[in-house]
Amino acid sequence: MLFTPLLGYDPIMQRFEEKVVFITGASSGLGAACATLFTAQGAKVFGVARDTAKLSALKESIDGEFNFACFDLSEANQCEAAIYQCIEHYGQLDVLVNIAGKHTFRHTAEMNENDWQEDLAINLSGPFFLSRAALPHLLERKGNIVNVASIAGLQGQPYSAGYCAAKHGLIGLTKAMAMEFMKSDLRVNVVCPGGMDTPQVQNIQPPEDCDFELLMKSAATRGFMQANECASVIAFLASDDASAIHGAVYTVDQGKTVG
Ligand SMILES: NC(=O)c1ccc[n+]([C@@H]2O[C@H](COP(=O)([O-])OP(=O)(O)OC[C@H]3O[C@@H](n4cnc5c(N)ncnc54)[C@H](O)[C@@H]3O)[C@@H](O)[C@H]2O)c1
Repeated sequence: MLFTPLLGYDPIMQRFEEKVVFITGASSGLGAACATLFTAQGAKVFGVARDTAKLSALKESIDGEFNFACFDLSEANQCEAAIYQCIEHYGQLDVLVNIAGKHTFRHTAEMNENDWQEDLAINLSGPFFLSRAALPHLLERKGNIVNVASIAGLQGQPYSAGYCAAKHGLIGLTKAMAMEFMKSDLRVNVVCPGGMDTPQVQNIQPPEDCDFELLMKSAATRGFMQANECASVIAFLASDDASAIHGAVYTVDQGKTVG
């Protein structure tokens, strides 16, 4: 049978129609790029971050259905409250995109308990508590989770013990959930970006006496990507176009980890 395209229907621009997408870290960088892209492709987006002013400015710039709330996603009860608010507002949840993150640069010997706990809380525990709260809703909608780790989840980076440990852990969490839900329709995948031109990188504060040769080993060789170059991969993975992709670890790093 010949494939006859429906007149006026753009399969990419409308692929999230009737879908609710929950995006963390939506106020800035990759999260803001995802919020913009998903709404442009028909999604109703519920964005969460900590900065109300930035989230309101983003809402002004978005031509589509975008609602937001501020929560501290390093706290388990705030993660649960954020999912609850999304369900109260939209009545359903189809996609959870865990983007919120933070990178502390410290000599390992100088990393205090607070630095360590903060890196783990926002980069690893938050995605876990959000996933746990979202699960019944995602299972009901045959939905999916896209986690955002980093190439620091695949290889070591100096002065980044907490961040590296958390991002390696996030890949482990993705694989564990992918196995556990193998017999359901839920999909769980993780994206590992390399260097992107976002506030996280623009405000980087390595230790003053660090070894730059070591630090530069994880720097972007081809220059920093733009956040929308990574957002487009996340949107693909979250869409039905990726229906066969489950438990995948996707590097989006311009070849940084190839060899
Ligand atoms: N920029 C890079 O080069 C790069 C590379 C690899 C991975 N990543 C990852 O991509 C993700 C997005 O980073 P980005 O580069 O867009 O950085 P960014 O600093 O622009 O954005 C971070 C977002 O996380 C939110 N956030 C941080 N702590 C939070 C908390 N406790 N509660 C709620 N929200 C919180 C911030 O409000 C912000 O919206 C992060 O997980 C980061 O680790 C970034």
